[in-house]
Amino acid sequence: GRRGWVGAVNTDYDPLDPRTAAQPHAAYRRLHETGRVHYNPRRAMWVLSRLDDVRATLRATDKVTSSQGVTRLRIQAPLVVLTDGEEHARLRKQIQPMFTTGAMASWRAMAEKLASEMVDELVRAPGSDVMTTLATPLPMSLIAHIMGVSDGDFDDFRRWSETTVRIMDANATPLGIRHARDAATGLASLRRYFTEQFDAGRIRESDSALGRLMNHSENGALTGNDLFMIAMLLLVAGNETTTNLLGGMFETFARNPEEYDRVRQDPGLVPMAIEEHLRFSSPIQNLYRYTRADYDIAGVTIPRGSRVLLSFGAANRDPEAFEEPDTYRADRNPRMHVGFGHGAHLCVGAPLARMEAHVVLTELLGRVSRIELSGDPTWSTNSSLRGPTRLPVRLVTT
Ligand code: HEM
Repeated sequence: GRRGWVGAVNTDYDPLDPRTAAQPHAAYRRLHETGRVHYNPRRAMWVLSRLDDVRATLRATDKVTSSQGVTRLRIQAPLVVLTDGEEHARLRKQIQPMFTTGAMASWRAMAEKLASEMVDELVRAPGSDVMTTLATPLPMSLIAHIMGVSDGDFDDFRRWSETTVRIMDANATPLGIRHARDAATGLASLRRYFTEQFDAGRIRESDSALGRLMNHSENGALTGNDLFMIAMLLLVAGNETTTNLLGGMFETFARNPEEYDRVRQDPGLVPMAIEEHLRFSSPIQNLYRYTRADYDIAGVTIPRGSRVLLSFGAANRDPEAFEEPDTYRADRNPRMHVGFGHGAHLCVGAPLARMEAHVVLTELLGRVSRIELSGDPTWSTNSSLRGPTRLPVRLVTT
């Protein structure tokens, strides 16, 4: 028989199984009960599911690399998420200036206007799907605004973006040929659009975050292609994740009305309630890393050249880190959660995602006394990104 790995526990936990991906929490409990370091021989994949171990591994960048770790996204330039060390620091410094406190303040009014209109629509039409009415269009509209896409171009932009971001599904299931072709067409259209905007000087002139980034880069160090890369990164990293957070928030509050009430009584809880949503319905459940040296963790040596699944979703439900981890508690204050990751790659867009969630929740608290499900929600079956795909609700106003 094949030699087992000393100290590791063999598992058939499979994040690529669509049913597990949609409802992973029973599998996480089993992982937590059976050991700390697991190995799935069929997938040739190591699995870390304890909060301490996931955090330690995210910090161990000398032995555990991010390159080729996230997705097979085919864009011919280095993506910040997929780099390490100095190159990573350089790319991250390019985009960080977009997410300052000042930038958040300047986007908040737009987010408030969108949230108010979208909640109006949900209130007006009981049984509406939160995902199509609010959770999907709100982040997409904000990103478009941040990138300086004009109102007239928005519908094209949205169509191209929606097909392009489906590339992310390549992580989970092989893309159908038509799917792949649509994604490639969407990407090409976006590239043409941004190149035209750039060449015509419209990005530089626009009062958008992308324009400001360009004007502030040393001697226009950012090229049209750099900007296009940044735009794609924001689209892919910032859209579906935020959509999933907003959807998860509605679902969890619908199932836990007493927790929603508690936040209504004490709106000071809003920031903590949002962190708890990030823990409880983590929009990013899993990411891969690769070992470039033998890596010792929890008494096990993971050999060099291994693929390691970091289960952010399981780590955020670790019973040794969080009391009653499968219970949503608005006032928990889960400070060590890894909903936005940890260490060098900690989400740069976190201030934007938090601001959007804050604005939406505040809008709800102001006029909705109860969120009720008016049908069964469905969940995505993507192994990395998890969220509702359909979430019909009735909003009860006071
Ligand atoms: C990185 C989660 C929203 C841009 C990350 C990582 C996580 C994460 C877990 C770490 C990846 C790793 O360690 O390999 C989330 C969640 C979001 C969200 C849950 C929403 C609730 C956003 C938004 C943006 C964004 C709105 C931008 C508009 C990025 C970028 C990185 C990143 C550029 C890469 C940072 C780096 O590699 O240094 N995000 N994200 N994210 N996120 Fe987010």
